[in-house]
Amino acid sequence: MMKAVEVRGTQANPEVTLNPAVPRPSPKKAEILVKVHAAAVTRDELTWEELWRRPLRIPGHDISGEIAALGPDYQGDLRVGDEVYSMIHAFRGLGQAEYVIVESSEVARKPRLLNHAQASAMPIPLLTAWEAIFERAQVQKGWKVLVTGANGAVGVILVQMASRLAGAEVVAVSSPQHHETLKQLGASQVVDYNTPNWEDTIKDVDVVIDTVGDPILTKTWKTVKSHGHIITVGPPPAAWEYGKGRPDELDEFPNVKWLFFIVVPKRETLEKAAQLIDNGTIKPIAIELFSPDKASQAHKSASIRNRKGKVVIEFVPEKN
Ligand SMILES: NC(=O)c1ccc[n+]([C@@H]2O[C@H](COP(=O)([O-])OP(=O)(O)OC[C@H]3O[C@@H](n4cnc5c(N)ncnc54)[C@H](OP(=O)(O)O)[C@@H]3O)[C@@H](O)[C@H]2O)c1
Repeated sequence: MMKAVEVRGTQANPEVTLNPAVPRPSPKKAEILVKVHAAAVTRDELTWEELWRRPLRIPGHDISGEIAALGPDYQGDLRVGDEVYSMIHAFRGLGQAEYVIVESSEVARKPRLLNHAQASAMPIPLLTAWEAIFERAQVQKGWKVLVTGANGAVGVILVQMASRLAGAEVVAVSSPQHHETLKQLGASQVVDYNTPNWEDTIKDVDVVIDTVGDPILTKTWKTVKSHGHIITVGPPPAAWEYGKGRPDELDEFPNVKWLFFIVVPKRETLEKAAQLIDNGTIKPIAIELFSPDKASQAHKSASIRNRKGKVVIEFVPEKN
């Protein structure tokens, strides 16, 4: 048996508890069993539909830990004892537990510079930022990229990857206490979303990458070039984001292309990103630690604005 965070109640009113006796999974076929040292909480993950479709509602998609066992058909290069980090697919989750099954496509050796708690905060932000910048928008050197929620977990990675890897000119939208840090991370322009009509101060953007959703997302349309792009991962997705209907803003900005996507785990991206962290190109995300018996508090904290860092539940405390 193992300890696991469990969500009861309803989707509208979820209750987070710690279940002390959940059956421990064992790897079948080519699956990998990870002993979880730390699991991060992503803002809004309790609202995700996929969680409510599962019989056992253990949340958690971002983890770091050590490989405890390999399935009988596993043929990759990972070994029992390897220290890894992983994003578990949106459909499965189950990461906020002492043990979890991951697929080989979801897991890579963790950055050596980071401890497990720090590493567990990274997979979704790294994968989301990489997919948005390099695979969806295909940002080119010199492009102007506007990032909303720039001080958030996904936002700080977007700012760093867009400026340092893609060579873009980054406009970071956040509250003012984060502006200095965002400049150090590579932003060329910082904008305070509390300033009325802030969107009027930004022009000729090639790509907006939004992590907030409305009310911020709708304001970004007027910042984009005539044939520019708006890419959003922010909640809650509007109907148009699932291909139903069209954004009202198109009446005014008919040539702007728009896209919502849900990130998918990719081992190669996690491997590349681990190197970028270890060579100092990408700085880690600040974290706030909770023990498993404070899981309910951890989830509440993850939904609060202006937190100190990404919330992490630590199952195996780090040795100092
Ligand atoms: N579709 C996908 O594949 C995908 C992938 C990753 C994340 N997400 C979603 O994307 C969102 C961001 O994730 P995250 O981990 O980066 O969250 P986070 O660390 O909590 O960051 C959220 C950011 O949004 C800002 N924000 C929130 N409400 C705002 C508002 N009304 N006006 C202006 N700024 C606002 C926050 O600014 P303050 O600090 O000033 O409040 C913060 O910078 C979450 O909802 C998450 O579930 C989706």
